[in-house]
This record gives sequence, C-alpha cells and structure tokens, in this order.
Amino acid sequence: MHNVIELAKQYKLRIFIPSTIGAFGPDSPRNPTPNVTVQRPRTIYGVSKVHAELLGEYYHHRFGLDFRCLRFPGVISSDPPGGGTTDYAVAVFHEGLLNKKYECYLEPTTRLPMIYIEDCLSALFQFLNTPNELLRRRVYNVTAMSFTPEELFSELLKYIPDLKITYKPDKRQHIERLIAINDVTSIGKSSDNIGRFAEVTSIITLGAIQSGGSGAGGRPAHCPRQAGHKFSTIAKHDGIGDGNTNMICRGWWS
Ligand SMILES: NC(=O)c1ccc[n+]([C@@H]2O[C@H](COP(=O)([O-])OP(=O)(O)OC[C@H]3O[C@@H](n4cnc5c(N)ncnc54)[C@H](O)[C@@H]3O)[C@@H](O)[C@H]2O)c1
Repeated sequence: MHNVIELAKQYKLRIFIPSTIGAFGPDSPRNPTPNVTVQRPRTIYGVSKVHAELLGEYYHHRFGLDFRCLRFPGVISSDPPGGGTTDYAVAVFHEGLLNKKYECYLEPTTRLPMIYIEDCLSALFQFLNTPNELLRRRVYNVTAMSFTPEELFSELLKYIPDLKITYKPDKRQHIERLIAINDVTSIGKSSDNIGRFAEVTSIITLGAIQSGGSGAGGRPAHCPRQAGHKFSTIAKHDGIGDGNTNMICRGWWS
C-alpha cells in the first residue's frame, strides 16, 4: 500500500481504498458511530485498515493527494463468501440453495450492518463523483441496513421452506463483539430498512433459483428493475446534503 500511494502521489493519480466497520473497536461509540471517533480495533484486519486510512489522510494533507475511503459494512453479493464475520449472509445463499442446509457461525441474535452490492457500488459511484472541494474529510462511514442471522433466515425460509438452519458459533462471534455496530437503521425501527432487507433477500433468492444456480445473484423475471423502475440511493455526508456526521446510504425502488 505504501508503494501504491507513493506512486499515486508522484503521478498525481486519485486513489480509493475500501475500509470496513472492522476499523472500529470495542471502545468506539455506537448507534451511530461517528466518522471521526475512537477506533482502536483489536483485529489485524481492522488495524491494517486504520493504517490505510491514516496513511491516505497524511498524503492528502501533506501532498494534496486525492485520497478517498469508505468504511463499508458486510457486502452481500453473488461472489463466493471469504469467511469474514459478516459472510454468513452470503454463505447462506450459496449453501442453502445448494444443500438446503446451513450451519451459522454466529448466534441467531447477532445484529450486524450489511449492504447490498448495488447499494455499495451506488454509494461508491456517488462518492467518487463528488467534487473534491465538497468533501469535508477523506474517510466516511457507509450504512444501509442491519439484521440478525435469524431475521435473514426467516426471510429466506419464505422462498426455501425446507432450508435447515443450525447454529455453531465460532471465534467470529468473539470478533463481532469487538466491532462497533453502526446500527442506525436497525430492523424493526425503520420501515425503509425492512423494505430493502426483504427486497434484497427476494432479489438474490429468486434470481438464483430462476437462473438454476446455487449461488446468490441473478435477477428474477419479475424484479421491479426489469419492469422499468429505477434504482436509487441516497448518499448524504457532511459537506453535501444535511450535514449529518454519517454518510447514510439507503436503497429503494422508485
Ligand atoms: N466483502 C465485504 O463484505 C467487505 C466489507 C468491507 C470492506 N471490504 C473491503 O473491500 C475490498 C474488497 O473486498 P472483497 O470482499 O471484494 O474481496 P475479494 O477477495 O473478493 O477481492 C479482492 C481482490 O483483490 C485482489 N488482490 C488481492 N491481493 C492483491 C494484490 N497483492 N495485488 C492486486 N490485487 C490483489 C484479488 O485478486 C481479488 O480480486 C477489501 O479491501 C476488503 O477489505 C469488503
């Protein structure tokens, strides 16, 4: 990363580095977690991300580098899961559709922030297209929705009724407790969150079933987007919009 950022400085390139909610730690304030606050993560993943954030900020302030960074929650996409703390929400689509069973490594009530890949890319697109002078800082949080394993699985059971779920928490349950949860749109509190959550589950499940694939992804024939609806994302961050300290990204069909 040092080499890449140094090259970006020398050749006057713009540079974007994805960060994560794992860049926060147990001392970080929650609900909501501000953009600038105590971080002090206790995982090497989080430490490496804070390192990237601070190095990028340093190059921006010292050399004028156009460095930008977003802290993403767990990203739900059709890519195979990697094994991170939020990856159960991807793995269940792959394993659930293929084997009709899934063993979850988190406790059923573990609430974590997540984002659907299209919302993630939309936030990224808007962020990278924002003129430099409108940005108040280089690193922003991104929030979309929060849910627990049991909430996701009960939604999924509507589409795969014979899906068998078991729970066997492993060390990732411990990591979850170290992460500050930016739970601004907890399910049950926000109708937008519930709507998008159900929408994402149906898009992925029906898309995968209809494409005959075992993995998440694809797009069902009845999907509103195919019917000519437009997918939108609101992205607000200080410097633009209403001056919130958090960047709020929420997808909906309009
Ligand atoms: N997936 C998530 O839920 C999530 C959440 C927050 C942040 N992030 C961050 O987003 C980024 C991408 O995550 P992802 O889940 O898409 O990971 P991924 O493993 O699917 O993709 C990583 C990509 O980086 C490439 N890569 C790895 N080492 C490289 C190297 N030395 N040089 C060039 N390319 C290299 C890999 O080939 C791969 O294509 C990561 O920085 C991750 O920390 C991911």
